Amino acid sequence: MSGAPASPERAPDSVGNVLIPATQIQERVRELGSRIAQDYSGRPPRLITVLRGGLIFLADLCRDIPLDCTMDFMAISAYGQPTAGGAVRITKDLDDPIAGQSVLVVEDIIDTGLTLHYLLGVLRARQPASLEVCVLLDKDARRLIDLPIAYRGFRVPDEFLVGYGLDLRGRYRNLPYVATVKEEALR
Ligand code: PRP
Repeated sequence: MSGAPASPERAPDSVGNVLIPATQIQERVRELGSRIAQDYSGRPPRLITVLRGGLIFLADLCRDIPLDCTMDFMAISAYGQPTAGGAVRITKDLDDPIAGQSVLVVEDIIDTGLTLHYLLGVLRARQPASLEVCVLLDKDARRLIDLPIAYRGFRVPDEFLVGYGLDLRGRYRNLPYVATVKEEALR
């Protein structure tokens, strides 16, 4: 991982150091895609992503899986702080049933794990043939619930991160790298 500052022409004021450069992300996404392609050979996965952050990762990952994948999207919102009790609401459900499908949930980041724990419960009840998780960034120091993660890109430290789908108040999702945020931007 590089501690180099974000390139000046691309880095907005609030963005600090690049934690994972774009080239490293691309390389890892390619590796994950080829592992998934091997594992899902003969049973192309239904890729399911939670809006909005997972969209960037999904868009790259699906092009590195040379199988006849399908995809679908969900959006959820937590009432205040999510809790293990599941104070979560589905604001956009999947368009299609997943019964009998090989489902792979694609997430940009897992933090406490509460979002994914809730989501996996909802999806499991719909009786997919299989249900696995692929996450790009695992902030495992913050985990409150243990989760099965079949594919993981990078472990990341417990810092506020932006880029490659991750936002600060809705911005910076389109940065091609993952970076920290300057202290003053978080106030
Ligand atoms: C992020 C991420 C996960 C969730 C993980 O979404 O995409 O869905 O947080 O956090 P957890 O493990 O603590 O539950 P976020 O709520 O930032 O929304 P976004 O995808 O619209 O950015």
